[in-house]
Amino acid sequence: MNRLHHWICRSGYWRQRVEEEVLPWALEGLGPGENTLEIGSGYGAASEVLGAHASGLTCVELDWGTARSLARRTTGTKVRVVQADAICLPFADGTFDAAFCFTMLHHIPNPLQQDRLLAEVARVLCPGGTFVGADSFAGLLFRMIHAGDTFTPVDPRTLPQRLGAAGFVEISVDQRARDFRFRACRNSPR
Ligand SMILES: C[S@@+](CC[C@H](N)C(=O)[O-])C[C@H]1O[C@@H](n2cnc3c(N)ncnc32)[C@H](O)[C@@H]1O
Repeated sequence: MNRLHHWICRSGYWRQRVEEEVLPWALEGLGPGENTLEIGSGYGAASEVLGAHASGLTCVELDWGTARSLARRTTGTKVRVVQADAICLPFADGTFDAAFCFTMLHHIPNPLQQDRLLAEVARVLCPGGTFVGADSFAGLLFRMIHAGDTFTPVDPRTLPQRLGAAGFVEISVDQRARDFRFRACRNSPR
């Protein structure tokens, strides 16, 4: 991420937006989890809320410095931070009962790798596990913030097919003015 982007992700403005706008919508009606996973946690704007609703939360963050900063802040809590690439998750199949992904899919370099990430999330979820996420639309401001950054906006209309190909069922995708949310369930083997 560029410096402006780091600054925004650490800001009170972003934390408030995640807590008051993104999470209430994305998590609507979802029960508490046991062993849960968040990918692309950044500075943890969503992690505290997610951690409070689960017995345990593992946060996966690609950037070393950001992961270290979040690990320091969450020491002694139910939150565990792992520096790793969500495209190749260092967990066994079926480890988690829920996975979350907020405002990060557009940071994956290309659609093929995004699909690889969706399949990885499916792999580490137990059968019937839930995958919940949200991301923003590629408006002018959003594009400006990503100047010089990896930026692969997701077209939410493609998500049902892509999530299905990754191994999910019961897929729902909703859009509103600035962002979209999705929810899907890990397919159970017959
Ligand atoms: C825009 S930030 C959002 C952070 C957080 N989810 C939030 O809502 O505040 C996206 C984060 O995803 C991380 N990220 C990008 N690619 C990743 C990958 N392949 N695996 C894990 N994290 C990744 C970035 O380093 C960055 O911290």
